[in-house]
Amino acid sequence: MQTQQRISHFVSLDDLSTVEIERLIARGLELKQGAPPHRTVTKTVANLFFEHSTRTKCSFEMAEHHLGLHVLPFETATSSVQKGETLLDTCKTLEAIGVDALIVRHGETGYYERLQEQLRIPIINAGDGSGQHPSQSLLDLMTMYEAFGHVTGKTIVICGDLRHSRVARSNAHVLRRLGATVIGSGPREWFDDTLGIAYQEIDEALTSSDIIMLLRVQHERHLDDQSFEATVYHQRYGLTHERMARIRPEAIVLHPAPVNRGVEIAEELVEHPQSRIFDQMTNGVFARMAILERAFDEPTTKETI
Ligand code: CP
Repeated sequence: MQTQQRISHFVSLDDLSTVEIERLIARGLELKQGAPPHRTVTKTVANLFFEHSTRTKCSFEMAEHHLGLHVLPFETATSSVQKGETLLDTCKTLEAIGVDALIVRHGETGYYERLQEQLRIPIINAGDGSGQHPSQSLLDLMTMYEAFGHVTGKTIVICGDLRHSRVARSNAHVLRRLGATVIGSGPREWFDDTLGIAYQEIDEALTSSDIIMLLRVQHERHLDDQSFEATVYHQRYGLTHERMARIRPEAIVLHPAPVNRGVEIAEELVEHPQSRIFDQMTNGVFARMAILERAFDEPTTKETI
């Protein structure tokens, strides 16, 4: 018999208990209030972004800076990925040279499954294809808890490009686990039945929701559809000034960003008092600090194999 330490991967909120998710939300909020971070100065991490990013990459870097972590510079464009090295071999190489955790964004849905089997260091998923975006989900939850203290009994509409959205997938699952009602809206042909949520027309959905989560139209994943027109989308499914005037006075508006201003939301409404879009970005730093702390926390459980 051999005793093996549990590795604190963070690839999907589905793998965490609701108690652990609530603890991470509370820890993120505590860090935002100024609680001292668990400094992890002896650890080294690397950020591997195989897809473009501004918020996730920069806020992980900011979180790493606040925690005192060493960050090994890694850019896919100048690495041996360009010679055809696989993701698995790239990650195994970084583990072999002493990196203690990897933050990875990759276009392949579920890319982390093989990595989890082969690596003995934590993988933190910064977004996989149309699979999961758990750190985004955690910062979204922090933003909702800041507004309401909880999500139990709240109604959340996720509106837009649901079929391609890892943000929608992560949030739909975790919000229901935490006791919220989640509905989907936007173009019916972009709705995804596998999310396990009901569809509602936009005008009905917006007026009955406490939290309005708009999704970016992922133009890069609609290359075969030449019929898209931004102004038509905005009028049919966007948060226009007219629709904004009809939402609940206490409702909040979220968007993972980048925002297509004038498409998912009217240009000026991004800065509306009920919009929490830039608060989400601020919360992203503290959510990611909590996630990184967890990766290096002393394990509370040991598994015997
Ligand atoms: N919300 C989000 O994931 O943004 P980035 O693609 O800029 O990281």
